[in-house]
Amino acid sequence: MARLRVIYESGEPEQVIEFDPAAAPFHHDGRPGSILDILLGHGIHLEHACGGNCACTTCHVIVKQGANRLSEPTEQEEDMLDKAPGLTPTSRLGCQAVVEDPDSEIVVLVPRYTINQMSEGR
Ligand code: FES
Repeated sequence: MARLRVIYESGEPEQVIEFDPAAAPFHHDGRPGSILDILLGHGIHLEHACGGNCACTTCHVIVKQGANRLSEPTEQEEDMLDKAPGLTPTSRLGCQAVVEDPDSEIVVLVPRYTINQMSEGR
């Protein structure tokens, strides 16, 4: 079983999920087995304004552990990520980063702000 731990910059309590990557898709939003697919399929909310189609950055997560256990980012994902507020070297789009290894221990940080929240606050 793979483990995914989600921590929040906002201070919300962390969430931990255990799952079998081979059982994907879990929810059918984002790529099958992506962080978004896994979270939604386990009842955990993650913003996904474009429906998991690599066309926004609201699903931005920062991978704190296990980045090498995820699928390689495509050029399209990297282009979108360039627009994400608070971009870091381990940033990924949750709808595109697929957990590929059944023994993965992944930790992701959900940043406090997404583009949607920033524009709402103006
Ligand atoms: S949900 Fe829009 S890019 Fe991931």
